[in-house]
Amino acid sequence: MTTENPSVTPYTGTPTTPAGKVGDYLDQRLGIAGAAKKNLRKIFPDHWSFMLGEICLYSFIILLLSGIFLTFFFTPSMNEVTYNGSYTPLDGIKMSEAYASTLNISFDVRGGLLMRQIHHWAALVFVMAITVHMLRIFFTGAFRKPRELNWLIGFGLFVLALLEGFAGYSLPDDLLSGTGLRIADGVILSIPIVGTYVSFFLFGGQFPGTMIVQRLFTIHILLVPGLILGLITAHLILVFYQKHTQWAGPGRNEKNVVGLPLMPVYMAKAGGFFFLVFGVIAAVGGMVSINPVWLYGPYVPNQLTAGSQPDWYIGFLEGALRMMPNVEWNFWGHTLSLNVLIPAAIVPGILFTGLAVYPFIEAWVTGDKREHHILDRPRNMPTRTGIGVAGCTFYAILWFNGANDIIATHFHLSLESITWTCRVLVFVGPVFAFWVTRRICFGLQRADRDKVLHGREAGIIVRSPEGEFSEIHAPLSDGDRYKLTSHEVHRPLTLTEVTDSNGVPAPRVRRAKLRAKATEWYFGERIEKATEEEYHESITGGHH
Ligand code: HEM
Repeated sequence: MTTENPSVTPYTGTPTTPAGKVGDYLDQRLGIAGAAKKNLRKIFPDHWSFMLGEICLYSFIILLLSGIFLTFFFTPSMNEVTYNGSYTPLDGIKMSEAYASTLNISFDVRGGLLMRQIHHWAALVFVMAITVHMLRIFFTGAFRKPRELNWLIGFGLFVLALLEGFAGYSLPDDLLSGTGLRIADGVILSIPIVGTYVSFFLFGGQFPGTMIVQRLFTIHILLVPGLILGLITAHLILVFYQKHTQWAGPGRNEKNVVGLPLMPVYMAKAGGFFFLVFGVIAAVGGMVSINPVWLYGPYVPNQLTAGSQPDWYIGFLEGALRMMPNVEWNFWGHTLSLNVLIPAAIVPGILFTGLAVYPFIEAWVTGDKREHHILDRPRNMPTRTGIGVAGCTFYAILWFNGANDIIATHFHLSLESITWTCRVLVFVGPVFAFWVTRRICFGLQRADRDKVLHGREAGIIVRSPEGEFSEIHAPLSDGDRYKLTSHEVHRPLTLTEVTDSNGVPAPRVRRAKLRAKATEWYFGERIEKATEEEYHESITGGHH
């Protein structure tokens, strides 16, 4: 027997709702129903850390929207004008049109200052979100096969985001942004042989020239955003196509994805999250002043304000420059400015190249050619986690030193002692951080092992008839036990091909030896996870 629910319209094959009618109209012309049905039901795993990529995306959209508004009022020109706007302290001052139009946006365009501040804050959040997203990918091993290419695309996005931020920061042609450009010019000039030519080419003559703002404008609103947009599209297509990684758990394996469908769950969540990110950035942009260019004045090459600081993501370069001793070589009438070249080009070059190629180095060291869709808990890969923390420590020390003048004046310390402390720490800190992190990872692995074998500390203390106090351990659920034991304990590779049958060293013997050392360094020390036998022994052997 069937019963009919009068509130449900019987299915006739003809859409009745407005959305259904629009869908039907489009389907009849584009034939999208099949593809949409398949893709909109795609499953995505859920975890808070997977939202970091979304923050990158949303802050980029906010940058595009607020940036479009700003282009209507900004004049990318270094032609000199006399300011007569409503900010009276600068009345009658000669300045570039770029700077005058920035003042105009800030004081005379309705909502202009809010838009400038939203744009600037969104840029800071964008680069921060990219950095944290990248760290989550690194520490969980989400870059492993088959996602190495997406790691490289992501790395490209990271570099472009830094470039985009710097280009935007330099547009208003105020004293602070001009100082940043002056430093960039110094770095370019320090590059042997080509540096002078590149500088002339970029600035259209001697620094600062009359072209740079115009050129940076094209780079900032067209070239780099276009590249970022293209790369984000490729990045997300790959995430979709390769499927998202997931955390280990009951019912999850390397071949399935456990989660919620894109439509309606993720669409609703993502939509809500976008407005949340927009709301927070708009609120901060409305309330917290950022880059008050009117206080700095127009750029004049022979002037500099005390306490000038770049945006946060350029701080590490500034710190590296401030840290380097003054080493310069002069020969045959040429100067090699190692004091600039090393901190601003060679050190970041090594740091960034290491970051880009890390997935390939790790795959070589581990000899692991399998696909991985289940994420690693950072503690279960102590050497990788140690390397990551060492890298962050190195970066953080450079960054800290970038504010050495502000720290010295605020905390009444000597600038030299801060600089010297950082010079020592930049070498010692990462090594120490690597060692401590590995020890913490091993400690956490031991704690996991104990938890599996003896249960979780319940916080309940009991006293036995003999007077002994002990804590009750509550057994873990099957699911939790699975999560703590499903990982693989890696072992060093056994590499035998060091000599051939005649005892002659194999052609790639050096490389093989290096690999043997590296794999031993990665996996030589390890904590074995609790086995099934140990577990059964622990529950039958009268433990708690
Ligand atoms: C404009 C910058 C970026 C945007 C908009 C972006 C966006 C996203 C989104 C939305 C996801 C899926 C959700 C998530 O896992 O967080 C994702 C995943 C991923 N991203 Fe990015 N990302 C950016 C930069 C980067 C960078 C700098 C890297 C690394 C160098 C990177 C590497 C990856 C990888 C490997 C995945 C797949 C992760 C997995 O399946 O677990 N991304 N990205």
